[in-house]
Amino acid sequence: EKRAKQAMQKAHQLVSQLYHYVLTETPYGVEAMKYLERRGVSRQTIAEFQIGFAPDSWDFVTQFLAKRQFSQELMVEAGLLAKSDGGKVFDRFRGRIMFPIHDTQGNVIGFGGRLLDGSKPKSQPKYLNSPESLLFNKSATLFNLHRARPYIRKRKQALLFEGYVDVISAWQAGFPQGIATLGTALTEQQAKMIRRNVDSVVLCYDGDHAGQEATSKASRILQQAGLIVRVAPLPQGVDPDEYIRQHGVEAFSQQVLLQAMPITAFRLKHLRSQIVIHDETDKARLIAKAVEIINELKSPVERDMYLRQLADEYSLSLSDLKWESKRVYKQQK
Ligand code: GTP
Ligand code: MN
Ligand code: MN
Ligand code: MN
Ligand code: MN
Repeated sequence: EKRAKQAMQKAHQLVSQLYHYVLTETPYGVEAMKYLERRGVSRQTIAEFQIGFAPDSWDFVTQFLAKRQFSQELMVEAGLLAKSDGGKVFDRFRGRIMFPIHDTQGNVIGFGGRLLDGSKPKSQPKYLNSPESLLFNKSATLFNLHRARPYIRKRKQALLFEGYVDVISAWQAGFPQGIATLGTALTEQQAKMIRRNVDSVVLCYDGDHAGQEATSKASRILQQAGLIVRVAPLPQGVDPDEYIRQHGVEAFSQQVLLQAMPITAFRLKHLRSQIVIHDETDKARLIAKAVEIINELKSPVERDMYLRQLADEYSLSLSDLKWESKRVYKQQK
């Protein structure tokens, strides 16, 4: 098992160098280079992140690995190659921009591969990630953590994004403390990995419904791991990469990161946008849910502040609200 893992490791290292070479030094990478340039990714960033390109071929990597005596079976398991039902082995990543994913020591253990816009039929997923393997455990990996770690520690803050490109854009804009999950929901294990380095996280998920939902879910897990969570507000329909390109670095810093609000305030705001109030029943339901969110706070002082706000907002007496809080708390347990 150990030797299989070492071989997978070596293959990933070589193939990531190969993809990077194809992108930056060969005619096969020209179109992808232009695409990255249009997206504002600099040459320096491409080099730093070892971004690559998997040519649109069925056997480019297959041949490359065969020449170096890697077992096909193992390479299929590692997810660099794939196998058809008929048993034919071929390149898993074809015609995609390749983002290497590293473990905390900086070894390449997987890839995220993105199609160029409009390059393939819509039936293909925009992103194709490496499958889980001996080497690649998605729930225990965070994109860019090995590179961001010293900055996360120094700035005493991690920025958590949804997408690889968001992390890369932020890095290029002077925010090197960005990390991302791998297209999956944040896990307890990932939260603990963050907590080992820092006690405060700013969530910078996309400004869409999916992003809001993911923010609520992730924030719970982060809080449970003992992290202080803030949410950076992004305009509707915009993700951090798009925001930086549209509004620039200064605005991203001032209007987004510095405006980050405590997670409880964010969740209360989201709740208000979700429940339409027609009558007292709706209102009572909203208040019960709001109290539930407030009850999750460990600090009694913070709970008190939010309860006072809620009481003001809905013209309730604070003592009734505290009573409600106790009632809801018993049901929560
Ligand atoms: P760009 O379109 O390149 O800017 O990427 P994005 O990061 O903005 O993508 P999006 O917001 O749609 O998705 C966020 C993250 O979810 C991506 O970075 C991927 O990790 C993951 N993801 C998105 N689309 C897919 C998909 O089709 N398949 C899989 N497996 N993951 C995806
Ligand atoms: Mn999105
Ligand atoms: Mn929702
Ligand atoms: Mn996005
Ligand atoms: Mn994007």
